[in-house]
Amino acid sequence: MSETTIDWDALRTAALAATAHSYAPYSGLAVGCAALVDDGRVIVGCNVENASYGLTLCAECALVGALHLGGGGKLVAFVCVDAAGAALTPCGRCRQLLHEAAAPGMLLATAAGPRTIDELLPQAFGPAALP
Ligand code: THU
Repeated sequence: MSETTIDWDALRTAALAATAHSYAPYSGLAVGCAALVDDGRVIVGCNVENASYGLTLCAECALVGALHLGGGGKLVAFVCVDAAGAALTPCGRCRQLLHEAAAPGMLLATAAGPRTIDELLPQAFGPAALP
């Protein structure tokens, strides 16, 4: 699926809607993300914080769960936003999660424009490194 067939506005709208479900009483940062799956599905996630702080689930964690719950597949395009709709780039752990869920050449929206997962996580550790 080429970049021109990705409806970035629809992904941004879905990600923004997901922020309404965020549970972020500690940081106050509601995060929503959305992705296009290689079978055409659009999936979403929101962050879920925890009083232990360290157990907080980023929005990408929920999204990867939704990917598998919805039948699996690989991610073609990904958007993450705050409650104002501003683009957020995934944290390091979530880049690793997304790397394993990504279709080849998957694109992520950033404030600087679309970037591939390989640009955001070069020389990534992955399944191929395991015996
Ligand atoms: N957060 C995400 O949901 N995704 C990221 O990639 C970065 C951070 C959330 C976790 C926490 O609830 C809040 O943003 C502040 O770190």
